Amino acid sequence: MSKLVFKEDVWRLAISVLLVNVLNVDCYGPPGPPGYPGVPGLMGPPGFQGPTGIVGIPGHPGPKGYNVKCRCKERSAFTVKLSGRLPPPSKPVVFTEVLYNDQMDLNETSGIFNCRKPGNYHFSFDVELHHCKVKIGLMKNQAQVIEKRQLSKEEYENVSGAMIMPLRQGDKVWLEADVETEEPNQAEIIIYFSGFLITS
Ligand SMILES: *[C@@H]1O[C@H](CO)[C@@H](O)[C@H](O)[C@H]1NC(C)=O
Ligand SMILES: *[C@@H]1O[C@H](CO)[C@@H](O)[C@H](O)[C@H]1NC(C)=O
Repeated sequence: MSKLVFKEDVWRLAISVLLVNVLNVDCYGPPGPPGYPGVPGLMGPPGFQGPTGIVGIPGHPGPKGYNVKCRCKERSAFTVKLSGRLPPPSKPVVFTEVLYNDQMDLNETSGIFNCRKPGNYHFSFDVELHHCKVKIGLMKNQAQVIEKRQLSKEEYENVSGAMIMPLRQGDKVWLEADVETEEPNQAEIIIYFSGFLITS
């Protein structure tokens, strides 16, 4: 009996040695599940700088300048002219040409003189007309200072006016012209408006 057991054990051992070493068959169970992944590595260095961009489009032009030197040193003065069209009634006359306005005290868009420096000012207007009737007024802060009328038929006629006025800062002065005509195609009017500071 013990002889038989011994015999069986020897065979078992021999077979297992054969399986493991000669046939290379594993005697262990199947492998377990994989472990958890490792922590990520460090971030790489930054990439190279990109190429220079395209040149941008030019900016918008700046606002219109004025002569700073003259504005400080010279006395306020202007002369402006209207020609080639009739002025609309009961409104400040807006002029078509600026002959002198270095200090820009006369607003060329509105036709209104704005007193910046208080003092005594001289204002005048000169009007030539043809085939029309005109009523022209020099205005100061909504009040009419001078009113002149003139009528022209075949002949060119002229009318003018002048006034010295003390002005305070912020006072406004302008011209208004009411033109009536029976011949709109032939009616003509030329207006000169001037002003300057006499003494401050
Ligand atoms: C001139 O008058 C116009 C129209 O009334 C106005 O828009 C503008 O601001 C004035 N300019 C100045 C310098 O006051
Ligand atoms: C009005 O003035 C213009 C230009 O100065 C002149 O040619 C014309 O003769 C004048 N008219 C009258 C009626 O004096």
